[in-house]
Amino acid sequence: MVYKRRVPRFLSSRPDSRLIPLPWELPLAEWPTDYLVALPRGISRHVVRFIKVGNSVYAAKEVIESLAIHEYRTLTDLHRTDTPAVEPLAVVTGRVGLDGEPLDPVLITRHLQFSLPYRSLFAQGVRPETVGRLLDAMVVLLARLHLVGFLWGDVSLSNILFRRDANEFAAYLVDAETAEMHETLTDGQREHDLTIAITNLYGEFSDLEAGRMLDESLDPLKLVESIITRYRELWAELTGAEEFSEQEVFRIENRVRRLNALGFDVAELSIETSPDGSSIRIQPKVVDAGHHTRRLLRLTGLDVEEHQARRLLNDLDTFRVRTSQGSVDEPVVAHQWLTECFQPVVTAVPPELRGKREAAQIYHEVLDYRWYASQRENREVPLLEATWGYIADVLRALPDEDLTDATRVGGDERQLANPYDPSQGFVDDEGPMPEDPWETAEDDEPASPPGFLDIDALRARKR
Ligand SMILES: Nc1ncnc2c1ncn2[C@@H]1O[C@H](COP(=O)(O)OP(=O)(O)O)[C@@H](O)[C@H]1O
Ligand SMILES: [Mg+2]
Repeated sequence: MVYKRRVPRFLSSRPDSRLIPLPWELPLAEWPTDYLVALPRGISRHVVRFIKVGNSVYAAKEVIESLAIHEYRTLTDLHRTDTPAVEPLAVVTGRVGLDGEPLDPVLITRHLQFSLPYRSLFAQGVRPETVGRLLDAMVVLLARLHLVGFLWGDVSLSNILFRRDANEFAAYLVDAETAEMHETLTDGQREHDLTIAITNLYGEFSDLEAGRMLDESLDPLKLVESIITRYRELWAELTGAEEFSEQEVFRIENRVRRLNALGFDVAELSIETSPDGSSIRIQPKVVDAGHHTRRLLRLTGLDVEEHQARRLLNDLDTFRVRTSQGSVDEPVVAHQWLTECFQPVVTAVPPELRGKREAAQIYHEVLDYRWYASQRENREVPLLEATWGYIADVLRALPDEDLTDATRVGGDERQLANPYDPSQGFVDDEGPMPEDPWETAEDDEPASPPGFLDIDALRARKR
């Protein structure tokens, strides 16, 4: 009899051949640490590990076949619609252990760089205003998912990853196991997701409260209620019909501007006039997120988060005024801005500090730093001088977000029981957590802007 060694099968649209020689015959929990990277991670039901292949880092999750394939396909759908979610790479099936017993398949996604699970954020101490921004980011994610017909089924903080986005946060979906993609969602389906969100988020905020990680001024129930209210307001703004008299045609323009301010473009707006022409009814039919991101990408080729893009575009406008190029073509000025402002700042950052923040985030923080320095010193601080100050005063002191060194995970003082699996907790469950000076800094500076999802304020302003 001839024995054939059973080899695993790879389901993937963009296969990475470096995955093939990995020890698929071992359960993920038993993989030698040479293959692993310790990075901040949320709590999970399944065994999840970050694996290192060359310079790439992937997340691997061991899960039964039907779920692995379902999740792979759903994430692929999301990727196609440009919705913020982790990027699926492959499903490895047909695994057989050394004892000849079958092993569960592994779903592989690309590690979302610079992302933080909510527990890592809260463990550092989070100001109440920051919590408001995290809620806004979640609400935008949920609305974006619903706009493309995605019924999540498992809305929870553990299934979301956050990235810094200028002064705000961007939320990404990480777990699509229970999700379903539809043509469009009914109100009932959206309500279903909201009901699940209420239960899960209330539990998670209560856990944070019990672990003294939630600011005392915040109440889990109020937080959850505010998420639901914000979601409903945003949804109404994105999709609701508006009726007005023929004298108020300007309200069409107002609506589009409000949507732009929220970061959305109107791809299709239905405009109906009553038979006698006295009233007009408008309703956005197709809205796409990423208004500022797309504009910046078109002008400069930089692909960044929405609020970062907004900030960079403002800086580009300022540059245009400062260099008196009001009548010069925008793409020409954009190119100059890129080579004279953006790139010099980014290249001034020493390579060993680049793992701390994304380039666009660094640029945004340098602009903030320069503004405060100029106010303080009552002079116009040049961009590069501000960059050096920022590197020395801020960046050097920040903890790494893009950790690649296993020993630093969990901060300098605390040791994870298993650095590759934060679900197992700390060796001693006491002691300080690492601090993010950016977050814990004394608030002697001008008040931060209100959450951007303040739709009432937006309406008041644009009318
Ligand atoms: N591609 C990824 N990039 C970054 N973190 C990830 C990625 N995939 C998973 N994670 C981390 O692993 C955790 C668990 O993953 P998840 O898919 O939610 O597993 P489970 O189905 O067991 O809940 C997430 O909360 C997240 O912190
Ligand atoms: Mg999960």
